[in-house]
Amino acid sequence: MNHLKFINQAHDMALKNLGKTFPNPTVGCIVCKNNKIISKAVTSSTGRPHAEEIALKKAGKKANKATMYVTLEPCFHSSRNGSCTDQILRSGIKEIFISCVDQDPRTKNKSINKLKRNKIKVITGIKKDQTLNINKFFFRSIKKKKPFTKVKMAISNDEKIAWGNYKSKWISNSKSRQHAHNLRNLSQAILTTSKTIIKDNPRFTVRKKNKILKNLNVIVVDKDLKIPLNSRILNNIHDKRVIIFTSMNNSKSLKLKQLGCEIIKMKIKNNEINLNKVFSILYKLKISDLMVEAGGIFFANLIKKKLVDEIHLYKAPIIIGEKGIPLIKGNQLNNIKKKLLEKNEFNDNLYLRYETR
Ligand SMILES: NC(=O)c1ccc[n+]([C@@H]2O[C@H](COP(=O)([O-])OP(=O)(O)OC[C@H]3O[C@@H](n4cnc5c(N)ncnc54)[C@H](OP(=O)(O)O)[C@@H]3O)[C@@H](O)[C@H]2O)c1
Repeated sequence: MNHLKFINQAHDMALKNLGKTFPNPTVGCIVCKNNKIISKAVTSSTGRPHAEEIALKKAGKKANKATMYVTLEPCFHSSRNGSCTDQILRSGIKEIFISCVDQDPRTKNKSINKLKRNKIKVITGIKKDQTLNINKFFFRSIKKKKPFTKVKMAISNDEKIAWGNYKSKWISNSKSRQHAHNLRNLSQAILTTSKTIIKDNPRFTVRKKNKILKNLNVIVVDKDLKIPLNSRILNNIHDKRVIIFTSMNNSKSLKLKQLGCEIIKMKIKNNEINLNKVFSILYKLKISDLMVEAGGIFFANLIKKKLVDEIHLYKAPIIIGEKGIPLIKGNQLNNIKKKLLEKNEFNDNLYLRYETR
């Protein structure tokens, strides 16, 4: 049996639904017998059913005495048809290759132990790093009990994100913007501020050639509930979640609720909402992956609270000058502890992806 080949194919399956299975990880599963694939599946777009359940259903009786390759430990907790582990035991699978142990405490090592107790041969760890990488948001968020958070910024050569008069103008080129759209497409929600909404009135959709491919969930920190009721983020509200963190409880909050927004009332201390609390609440609301699209004041606050996991920068060869809006208010990129993960050129723009330390 060519185990590596099949485990690689299971990862290729997992990649197909990257960015679609939130808050669940995307998992690939292959069932084989006599070196031939009987069935293959990926976690469905809504996160359920799981890949193993779909693959076993497709394989039917042929799963008896077959080998399963799966990128993540099968679940131990019950679903409508019993846990994936129980379904594997019922199917007659004799051997299972699992790339990575699930860190969800409901499953962690419990399934592996149960399969072993039931005399199934279990082999773990092949291509574990690939599973960890594909589902980075899942492993990080489960550990922190907060969403995995990426900050995306288009910057000038002198690290400014906008002109001093807030004149609306693109900084990055079209290739960078398309890349940023792909990043959005792989994210569960956008986190922003009322100020960025008021200044830019963004749509926060995923678009290709101006066609909307996805209406992303939008989360707004809006202490005084200043966002206009005709903001573009409120378009197509029934195709997404709009969650607003505010200190206000008034007729405007009621109106926004009626429109379909989720309004979360927060206390104010030192004129600020506690962002740590915002992140913990989001995790409980099953938001595990965030892309921040806001300005340098908000970025600085996130950095102070150690809430940033990755920074994605698109650097254009222009100078905005001293009056421009800084990337990180009161701070500089140089002072942030980080590791470069990726560097790329998009025509005249430089793309830099960092992991914060
Ligand atoms: N180049 C890029 O990629 C990019 C991306 C996004 C935005 N931008 C630009 O960034 C500019 C805005 O940047 P900015 O730095 O001035 O503003 P910002 O960071 O978007 O927003 C700052 C505001 O957010 C609110 N806020 C931040 N932390 C808070 C907390 N802990 N609790 C409560 N409220 C909090 C406060 O607003 P209140 O006190 O008023 O509620 C604060 O004034 C816009 O012009 C936009 O075009 C650029």
